[in-house]
Amino acid sequence: MTTATVSTQTTNQAYTFPPGPAPKPILGSSFDFSVDPLSFVTRLQRQYGNAATVSFMGGFKMVLLFTPAAVRYVLVEHPRDFTSREFNFTLTRLLGDGLLTIDGELHRQQRRLVQPAFHKKRIESYAATMTEHTLDMLSGWRAGETRDIAAEMQALTLRIVAKTLFDVDLKHDSDQLGRAFTDVITFPGDRRLAWQNLLRINLPFTPFGRYLRGKSKLDATIYRIIEERRKSGEDKGDVLSMLLHSQDEDNTMMTDQQVRDETMTFFAAGHETTANALAWTFYLLSQNPAKDALLREEIARVLGDRPPTVEDLPNLPYTDMVIKESMRLYPPAWAIGRMASRDFDIEGYHLPKGQVVFMSQWVMHRNPEIWGSDVLEFKPERFDPQHPQDVPQFAYFPFGGGPRMCIGMPFAQMEARLLLATITQHVRLRLVPGFPVVPQPMVTLRPQHGLQMTVEQP
Ligand code: HEM
Repeated sequence: MTTATVSTQTTNQAYTFPPGPAPKPILGSSFDFSVDPLSFVTRLQRQYGNAATVSFMGGFKMVLLFTPAAVRYVLVEHPRDFTSREFNFTLTRLLGDGLLTIDGELHRQQRRLVQPAFHKKRIESYAATMTEHTLDMLSGWRAGETRDIAAEMQALTLRIVAKTLFDVDLKHDSDQLGRAFTDVITFPGDRRLAWQNLLRINLPFTPFGRYLRGKSKLDATIYRIIEERRKSGEDKGDVLSMLLHSQDEDNTMMTDQQVRDETMTFFAAGHETTANALAWTFYLLSQNPAKDALLREEIARVLGDRPPTVEDLPNLPYTDMVIKESMRLYPPAWAIGRMASRDFDIEGYHLPKGQVVFMSQWVMHRNPEIWGSDVLEFKPERFDPQHPQDVPQFAYFPFGGGPRMCIGMPFAQMEARLLLATITQHVRLRLVPGFPVVPQPMVTLRPQHGLQMTVEQP
């Protein structure tokens, strides 16, 4: 088991960096990182242990931290010394100044402002909307047909977040908006990986052209939603009303731009991750019939044919274990990054202010030293509440940790269980034989080619 040595003291000694691969001329490790980031960072952990340094084209250096103690140090013990914005460049480009991409006092204020929308009672009031939308989706499915389950889950979770947090019905726009989100978040263009600027060619069929059109489509939708609510003047007590009615300390309302950025943040963060969690869950169940049978047995025994409600959730422990184990193997947020705002010591290295650190759920959740030699097996039993597998805190962190831990976690956990139970009651999904399932680590971890599955009777 790897352990971290962390220290809060800073000294004047020269900076020391963890070891890492020798940078190739000009490119550094940019090419290796861009071609297959998941294998690349996993190899680094296997080769270098607790921490590694990677150099990119243009001299940008990143320190990768691989121990649970280091994750705890950055996210929980010293969150004020590590900022989010600079790391999350791809997100900031779309989200502007939303909760995910702001730091310091502004972050604390905004988080307090929207927190009431995520209180237990309020979240529970969304349950019926979640199952109703799922049943509506299922009513259009026919046995024998093939569907892209990743796209279906994205459209469904987008509709749910729109209805619950913004009281908007996106029934007729969700496919198009889902595609727009995909075009925006799969376009790389990180300015620190300088070669990616070469991708900025704006033509109808280039990724950059699709990115620009996707972003305008999303912006137009978000501004329309804000405008309609402003006109109605109604206080619905949802996230949008909280944003529109909030006042900052000077008693000035949030600007349109601020409301837009927060709205976009909740739309993006509130659907894409849960959609991927569900898509990977259906993939894993299709590959593990014995676990699928246990899930079906629980759902049939507890629910019969009736739709699940929030009161049923405590009686569906295996459903919960399946989702937790799915997020271990395929964490929808596959990495978290931060930039240090002061010198710091970690894992025996003395690192400078401005250093970017990178912590990967993908690597941690698949580390055999932590999880055992069966680490790649899908075993929901690891999360059995009676006999959980004994792993250190932060060996598992699909929702992050500390003051920036996912605000939507209770929402997502409830939604994932309700949707999984409802869909399992009505259908069985089988992967189309030979379909290539390739995890694509963009902002979230998605199946690169979608997930073509055949719909069968349960
Ligand atoms: C399975 C589903 C989800 C996963 C795996 C997930 C994961 C995460 C993670 C890892 C973070 C921390 C990022 C960091 O520390 O840099 C985060 C933050 C956040 N998530 Fe989620 N999330 C999920 C669902 C949701 C939902 C449903 C919503 C909204 C309804 C949401 C809204 C947010 C927001 C606004 C933040 C920023 C919080 C802050 O910085 O204070 N997420 N999420």
